[in-house]
Amino acid sequence: MNILVLGGAGYIGSHMVRYLRERGDRVTVFDNLATGHRFLAGDARLVVGDILDPGAVEAVLRQEGPFDALIHFCARSLVGESVTDPALYYRNNVTGTLNVLEAMRATGHRRLVFSSTAAVYGVPQVPVIDESQPAAPINPYGRSKRMIEQVLADYATAYDIASVALRYFNAAGAHPSGEIGELHEPETHLIPNVLRAALGLAPLKVFGNDYPTPDGSCIRDYVHVEDLAQAHHLAIDYLGTHPGAHVFNLGNGNGFSVFEIIAAARRVTGKEIPYDLAPRRAGDPPQLVADASRARRELGWQPRWTDVERIIDSAWQFMRRR
Ligand code: UFG
Repeated sequence: MNILVLGGAGYIGSHMVRYLRERGDRVTVFDNLATGHRFLAGDARLVVGDILDPGAVEAVLRQEGPFDALIHFCARSLVGESVTDPALYYRNNVTGTLNVLEAMRATGHRRLVFSSTAAVYGVPQVPVIDESQPAAPINPYGRSKRMIEQVLADYATAYDIASVALRYFNAAGAHPSGEIGELHEPETHLIPNVLRAALGLAPLKVFGNDYPTPDGSCIRDYVHVEDLAQAHHLAIDYLGTHPGAHVFNLGNGNGFSVFEIIAAARRVTGKEIPYDLAPRRAGDPPQLVADASRARRELGWQPRWTDVERIIDSAWQFMRRR
């Protein structure tokens, strides 16, 4: 297959690129390198460009295509930042994606896999969330992703662009080679911050110990990036036989609290992980756990990284090499 990975020099995108390359697909990466890193794109062809430049997107589709599918990871994805700078989020995540869709229409491309998020559920009313739960995002990041899900439904109906939106819960871990992994600056995600604390690189803060959960800290469903890549790959096949716009949750269905992640990381690293208690972080729901049975059933998704210690260990192997 010939695949365009938009945002292929970022964290999840780079694992996708590696996954496709390991299976022999031809991959072109389109990335503005604003938060991504050139080396993460590996041996794929890299076109440096921005989805906010409609001409650049159309040019890559014409020059490197036709593509069997586009996988679109380009996005701003920090909840807190989206509250203080919503324009950045609506511009990048909404306008940028509309540019991608318009370029697809102009060039006759008909298949898109889109990165969505558990943030579309807002503060869910049930402990384990399936796709029938209402989408009610509570911050601009979640709203920007939800808006595009709705756009995708309309584009499927009107323009015959088939799409799969994958709602990731908490992406975590790194490629087993330790060569690529999560590399954000600043880093806001829990597992890399816990591991930085294990290395003595930065102090760890636990945001809130007064949530209505058994130990008072927030519960999340950590899903390995390699399993996310597998789901995108399956989604491309699915689009071949399923026109329309589809959404799927991607998570393991197991919730871990912040304190449980710290304890697991102590076991994995053998190191002390000191932390300070800090106030709640704005916009954090107490618990987000996926029911991903639709993805298993419809896509044939079989997550392999179901043990949270293995997920943390893969991130640890990457971090220790840096
Ligand atoms: N946390 C800490 N200390 C840290 C970092 C995080 O205590 O240094 C806590 C957070 O408060 C939260 C949990 O660890 O309770 C997980 O936080 P992350 O930042 O790792 O992940 P989020 O759950 O906030 O974010 C994820 C995705 C987002 C998505 C969001 C939906 O990364 O893209 O879920 O709420 F929007």
